Amino acid sequence: MELIRHAGQIRATCDAARASGRSVGFVPTMGFLHEGHLSLMRRAGAERDVVVVSIFVNPLQFGPAEDFASYPRDLGRDAALCEKEGGAVGVAPGVNAMQPRGRPDVTEGPGRRAGRLEGAARPGHFRGVCTVLARLFHLMGASRAYFGEKDAEQLAVVRVVVRDLAFPLEVQGCPTVREPDGLALSSRNTYLTEEERVAARSLHEALRAATAAVAAGTADAAALVTTMRARIEGESLASFEYAAVVDDASFEEVDRIAAPARALVAARVGRPRLIDNVLLPTPVGQNGAEEGHA
Ligand code: PAJ
Repeated sequence: MELIRHAGQIRATCDAARASGRSVGFVPTMGFLHEGHLSLMRRAGAERDVVVVSIFVNPLQFGPAEDFASYPRDLGRDAALCEKEGGAVGVAPGVNAMQPRGRPDVTEGPGRRAGRLEGAARPGHFRGVCTVLARLFHLMGASRAYFGEKDAEQLAVVRVVVRDLAFPLEVQGCPTVREPDGLALSSRNTYLTEEERVAARSLHEALRAATAAVAAGTADAAALVTTMRARIEGESLASFEYAAVVDDASFEEVDRIAAPARALVAARVGRPRLIDNVLLPTPVGQNGAEEGHA
């Protein structure tokens, strides 16, 4: 299958689909597609008539010391996977199509979220994500866009951008796809050596430990952070970066779990920096109400 390379063709394809009464589902990716990406494409295919998958390794979201140059790329394989997944339309604009005049003069910001968690660890990252998505959203037009909960902070940022700037699309979050041992799929897992691959399990195990602690009654976020940190630091090949507990709706860090909350971790394991997260259960005895209240 031919991949669409030009910005004008992306717009024409989506406009033509809508003009013939078909709905558009959009799956933005950086390619090197894996089962996590495919799960988004399948969900889009089940809900929308035409699925458009963008494949673009976006230079704007990589820091100067990050892996832009070596980020895994295989457009031929990605094109074949798009075709196999119900004939999704693969869109792989080159850097010239996405940034015809070099780095854009006008960029899109992530708002208040820029300075915390991934935003703090990767200065400029979310501005780069928001800028490329704004351009892609304008090219796609009215659609439903599918994002993975694997990148929960990114999903939260995108929801706010779409809401505040009235992009004509709905954002749909989709569950994280994992390896049998719990490691979240990621294009960057290909960097892991065999030993690092074993050590990488500690991220998911840290999240599982936090989940078990909450299920056993712990509502104190600091205690959960300590539990998660200890699990990752127990792994000599993993270098702990952060663990956090946030309110699932606002993505603000919380002291106690009183409403649906999400636990997040980040660590470097060998070369790649890995992130993962889970939605935490409601602590026992809470039933939606705060502890100590009737
Ligand atoms: P990329 O890392 O390629 O991810 C593309 C989409 O796939 C994102 O929505 C991501 O959350 C989702 N995804 C990745 N791994 C997943 C997994 N294991 N399970 C479920 N979904 C998964 O995220 C980006 O690209 C870029 O920042 C992008 C949004 C394309 C902007 O450049």
